[in-house]
Amino acid sequence: MNVLMEEEYKKKFDIQLWKKLGKYLKPFKKQFIMLAVLMILIGIVEATFPLLTRYAIDNFIGRNTVAGLDKFAVAYVLLVVFQVFNVWSMINLAGKINMSLCYDVRKRGFKRLQELTLSYFDRTPVGWIMARLMSDVQRLGDTMAWGIVDLVWGFAMMIAVLVYMLVLNWKLALIVMTVIPVLAVLSIKFQQKILEAYRKVRKTNSRITGAFNEGITGAKTTKILNTGARNLNEFNELTDSMYKSSVSAAVYSSIYMPVVISLGSIGTALAIWAGGSNVTLQAISYGTLVAFISYTVQFFEPVREFARVLSEIIAAQASTERVVALLEAEPEIKDGSDIEEKFGDLFSARRDQWSPITGNISFRNVSFSYKDGQDVLSDFSIDIKAGETIALVGETGSGKSTIVNLACRFYEPAVGEILIDGTDYRERSQLWLQSNLGYVLQTPHLFSGTIRDNIKYGRLDASEEEIINAARLVNAHNFITELEKGYDTEVGEGGNRLSTGQKQLISLARAILADPKIFVLDEATSSVDTETEHMIQQAIQKLLKGRTSFIIAHRLSTIRSADRILVIHKGKLIEEGSHNKLLRRKGYYYRLYTNQFMEEKEELLLHA
Ligand SMILES: Nc1ncnc2c1ncn2[C@@H]1O[C@H](COP(=O)(O)OP(=O)(O)O)[C@@H](O)[C@H]1O
Ligand SMILES: [Mg+2]
Repeated sequence: MNVLMEEEYKKKFDIQLWKKLGKYLKPFKKQFIMLAVLMILIGIVEATFPLLTRYAIDNFIGRNTVAGLDKFAVAYVLLVVFQVFNVWSMINLAGKINMSLCYDVRKRGFKRLQELTLSYFDRTPVGWIMARLMSDVQRLGDTMAWGIVDLVWGFAMMIAVLVYMLVLNWKLALIVMTVIPVLAVLSIKFQQKILEAYRKVRKTNSRITGAFNEGITGAKTTKILNTGARNLNEFNELTDSMYKSSVSAAVYSSIYMPVVISLGSIGTALAIWAGGSNVTLQAISYGTLVAFISYTVQFFEPVREFARVLSEIIAAQASTERVVALLEAEPEIKDGSDIEEKFGDLFSARRDQWSPITGNISFRNVSFSYKDGQDVLSDFSIDIKAGETIALVGETGSGKSTIVNLACRFYEPAVGEILIDGTDYRERSQLWLQSNLGYVLQTPHLFSGTIRDNIKYGRLDASEEEIINAARLVNAHNFITELEKGYDTEVGEGGNRLSTGQKQLISLARAILADPKIFVLDEATSSVDTETEHMIQQAIQKLLKGRTSFIIAHRLSTIRSADRILVIHKGKLIEEGSHNKLLRRKGYYYRLYTNQFMEEKEELLLHA
């Protein structure tokens, strides 16, 4: 996490990155252009108002008459209405761009997450992914929509003001403009300083968050190791340095503002001084002078905004970088283009090309490691016939889950191959296998929604009757109908309104509704009470018929009824066979059985 944060803050404006982002902004090109045009229009209209004031002063006040005032008033009101309409359209359009940009990027991110392999999620905390999809995308959307508004408006207005001044009186305009080079030089200097300070603040901030994270997640270890004081020191130093950078950012900003305002005033003073004497000489009108004074004020208004907008854009650069990193993350397991062409991809499967799965699975000399160099599985071979129930037994960390993860192609073997019905599964699409797969884990996951919805995720076109049948089959129907709202009960976020056992039964119903050919239960009964376990137990017997299944369980009764038991030790298959055969062998399984299962057996006998 820390590493991810540290590398986020590139020093400078990163053109490469924004180019990459361009690809994702392309669908909004037209809207962005429209927005820019609107902003130019708004800037021009805003710069036009002083001209109207000038006209009013020269024609009505200067000549002391009201003739034509009505027409003038109408024109003025029309321009105001036009501007209100422009601003309204701008707010609408920018809001729309913001929203649809966020939606689009999130959708792409979500799609990418579906394609990414489990190994990506090993490396990347879910919290990180969520933060990317929510706050970073939001920030990106805000900056793209509103940052463009501010920038384009500012430039358009400055240019319009310059043009109007030149047209009104180019001599006076040139005099006023003498402050612009000074302004430009000072602005560049100050903005650099301010941006630099902001950058430091953000960088320190991310380090503080990191330190904070470590401090919290490692609180227990810290206590034990007695490193609290050191952590605190480090934390203090970081906050101290952040404080200093924040102060210098504030100082630069607070000096910069008066400087811009003073320059603006100098411009105005120049206009009054040069223009005023011209007025007395009757070389220019009072109206023109007033317009010039307005223009010098208007001209400096956007300049003050630029520092803020630029720093926002630079800040958004970090968000953009993280979002792009997510959007462009490459899945480690990817179907080849020929495979994709033949069988379709994740989002447009060509099911007519798929061959039906029977369920024979073979591991041929498979070796695998999560991290380089440490083989979790080495030279592992096994042939499993369709419909067979395989129980995997072994200590924690022996590699049981790894074997089923490989069989399901959540990971691929580094060496060797895995055949499904005689073909290496890498010659088929991932979806082909995964849509024939039922997988129930120790910690069941439900999505917020009703119980019915959650079961239905197994097969979206299932009928009500099929849903109820699935629930009946796993002994979930009774407890569901006993709930006040039955199948319409909301399960809450992550299913937290139900007990683990209930969630487990529902996820079993979901798995069975999909009618998978290959079924995996990885410690599915480990965290439920004995009563639920008994229910699941009965259900499992029915579930396994006609499916190739892998069962990883602690309980003897589940294991004993398997067709074949594989004893895994440190990533190797050390014994295999039926329960009775393995007991007769008096080997590893026998010892495991006598140590671990005897208690359980006694317990059962006592209850019998
Ligand atoms: N996602 C992972 N990343 C890195 N190492 C892992 C991962 N999953 C499991 N391991 C390691 O692989 C070994 C086998 O784990 P696993 O297959 O989960 O064992 P079991 O299911 O038998 O308890 C263990 O040493 C474990 O620490
Ligand atoms: Mg496991």
